[in-house]
Amino acid sequence: MILITGGAGFIGANFVLDWLAKTGEPVLNLDKLTYAGNLENLASLEGHTGHVFVQGDIGDGALVASLLAQHRPRAVVNFAAESHVDRSIHGAEDFIQTNIVGTFRLLEAVRAHWSALPGAEQAAFRFLHVSTDEVYGSLAPNEPAFTETHRTEPNSPYSASKAASDHLVRAWHHTHGLPVLTTNCSNNYGPFHFPEKLIPLMIVNALAGKPLPVYGDGQQVRDWLYVGDHCSAIRRVLEAGRVGETYNVGGWNEKPNLEIVHTVCALLDELRPRSDGQPYAQQITFVKDRPGHDRRYAIDARKIERELGWKPAETFESGIRKTVQWYLDHPEWVAHVQSGAYREWVQAQYAAAAPA
Ligand code: NAD
Ligand code: TYD
Repeated sequence: MILITGGAGFIGANFVLDWLAKTGEPVLNLDKLTYAGNLENLASLEGHTGHVFVQGDIGDGALVASLLAQHRPRAVVNFAAESHVDRSIHGAEDFIQTNIVGTFRLLEAVRAHWSALPGAEQAAFRFLHVSTDEVYGSLAPNEPAFTETHRTEPNSPYSASKAASDHLVRAWHHTHGLPVLTTNCSNNYGPFHFPEKLIPLMIVNALAGKPLPVYGDGQQVRDWLYVGDHCSAIRRVLEAGRVGETYNVGGWNEKPNLEIVHTVCALLDELRPRSDGQPYAQQITFVKDRPGHDRRYAIDARKIERELGWKPAETFESGIRKTVQWYLDHPEWVAHVQSGAYREWVQAQYAAAAPA
């Protein structure tokens, strides 16, 4: 079996569902269930004997040690993190605790377990750390996309905490020999995406008749990858990645935010037109920019294609259509995640962001 951390979040839950469907290998899922963790994402696994869920913190060394001793997973995939840039600007404490201290404690518990394994099990063991392209910083319009050797220049508290965790993972390999793999992926989108991030926020706000808040001039560029493609990349790296290596994962799909928002609006105009017949794009509102907002991310994903034969299966057009349709088909999921805590966040974040 494998141990997944953060498997009740957006990407982790997609990964658990995908993993069980594609491989059938059992999963032990350790998740703290922060505001971003949601067991409803895994409701379809109820009664599935291949999924064991444990609520707990990756920073709880004693808990992780006992889970490793009891279940003897052959690999650990670390998704658990605080993941929202805007929240890290409001307060970075949780980011430091989970992304840095938590990763350190997890690495230490895994190292103790791994170093006591018998030879063949020890050689086959893997620790895969899931990270982000944001650790590389921001690109000028004509600069080449990030390769794995690009310098690390994080600009937000979130990306700084992820870069720190990447460095810890690297050091635990070089110093202690732990067989690690790291993936640095671009912006994901798809089902179960918490509606504090751009794409799901635009879908749920549009449907609720609310403003669609675009930061600054909306010309910041991100590379977007359908979450199912990120899951297949992680499976492939776990299976065949070279120990100690980093693999960039991306969709070859750079787009400015405003274009993304217009695409979402156009799909909603087609699939669920407004009752007054007006276009959803009328709801677009330019608001105050995010402090320190990175202008452009772009991923050069040639290494993972060359070495491991992975490339994305989904185009942006097919992925975004599926995603919008998923939100239209799951109004109860949206209603449930929009709890009291969610409403407080939205109020604090967007009250200050008056139209620009
Ligand atoms: P998410 O915020 O949706 O989910 C994070 C999950 O981790 C939640 O279920 C949460 O309860 C859990 N968690 C948080 N702190 C924990 C702790 N201390 N112990 C155990 N569990 C804890 O995040 P996501 O978007 O699914 O991202 C997953 C991973 O992928 C993160 O490491 C993130 O940095 C990375 N990543 C995300 C993106 C993206 O576009 N979302 C892109 C590249 C990389
Ligand atoms: P986000 O989904 O928060 O991901 P990240 O900051 O990790 O890239 O934001 C994606 C882009 O969309 C980013 O450039 C910020 C922008 N954005 C808005 O313009 N308005 C919003 O309300 C949000 C949440 C994001």
